Amino acid sequence: MNKLTIDQIDLAGKRVFIRVDFNVPMTENGTIREETRITAAIPTIRRALEKGGRIILASHFGRPEGKIMPEYSLRPVAERLSQLLGQPVALAPDCIGDAVEQMVNALQPGQIILLENVRFHAGETKNNPQLADAFARLADVVVNDAFGAAHRAHASNVGIAQRVTPAVAGLLMADEINYFNRAVRHPQRPVAAILGGSKVSTKIAVIERLLAQVDMILLGGAMAFTFFKARGQTVGSSLVEDEMLQVARDAEEQARARGVKLLLPVDAVIATSPSSTTTQIVSIDAIPEGWMGLDIGPATIQLFQQALQTAATIVWNGPMGVFEKPAFANGTLALAEAVAQCSALSVAGGGDTDAALRQAGVADRISFISTGGGAFMELLEGKELPGIAVLNDA
Ligand code: 3PG
Repeated sequence: MNKLTIDQIDLAGKRVFIRVDFNVPMTENGTIREETRITAAIPTIRRALEKGGRIILASHFGRPEGKIMPEYSLRPVAERLSQLLGQPVALAPDCIGDAVEQMVNALQPGQIILLENVRFHAGETKNNPQLADAFARLADVVVNDAFGAAHRAHASNVGIAQRVTPAVAGLLMADEINYFNRAVRHPQRPVAAILGGSKVSTKIAVIERLLAQVDMILLGGAMAFTFFKARGQTVGSSLVEDEMLQVARDAEEQARARGVKLLLPVDAVIATSPSSTTTQIVSIDAIPEGWMGLDIGPATIQLFQQALQTAATIVWNGPMGVFEKPAFANGTLALAEAVAQCSALSVAGGGDTDAALRQAGVADRISFISTGGGAFMELLEGKELPGIAVLNDA
């Protein structure tokens, strides 16, 4: 993953096609709810401006499936970006076509245009060659900063990069790659992985991969109950995937064989349903029938905190409980605080993990929070991401 970056190429006077991931969460009334993905792209945009580029930004937004849908227009993003940069960001009427080519060719160094949602064209997600050719006509140089979409092989990230040289990583993409390498590929040991979430089936590839790479796994979230049931323990009515029991046993066996410490919760916050606010804290082997574990309890928090203090590197994916509900948020938030207090290199990402860290108010004390959901998960699974693989090697 040693790729050329924006810092290593000349951009003066060039049409710099920057693929960003502006797929931001929106409120029901069409305003931006969370803008991290926009702010995270700003260093690359500024660097391209400083280097004298003519800037073309491209992104997908939602899944309009090839149809032009006004609710998936990037207009709110263009407006916000222009405020953040303090300069106009024109929104093109489309992402390809004669009118767009004319607008792009008329750009002066230091000017920025944002193309309309690339997924308004059905060819985008199919990496259609004609669409990729049309994108390529807009670019002298390709910069990919869309780590969040790097697990997709689409026309605006992979297709264009196969047609335009140089195709390099932006600063965010380079950070994502570097921190992942430091946390997972060549980490300082011991390495602790915190894994949470509700289903073993969606995390097993990550668990298996990390068993080969880390020194301890702190496993929370409802998926822990599949492990307990696999050990023959009672779990009340906690969520269990019966078809994953053998997989859980195999993972425990692998951990033993490899000498990886697999820490499971020792207590839980329980209720009769996730919507109940009547809770109890019980030992993990004492969950009554009709009750379910919905968060880790205080003894587990302490156990996990102590383990984290011994780590030189921490990787985190997935919450410890149903943290969206205040009654079951404490375990995830306490662990977030514990990670923030550690001197270890800490890298978090995927799914709800970034939301949990923000909710805990510790985001700025984590070494790096990935902007990727699915992309971060696929990296953790050990997969090669096509959006990165296609970029020119350093
Ligand atoms: C994401 O939000 O994970 C990325 O922007 C990719 O979006 P997608 O899952 O719709 O391809």
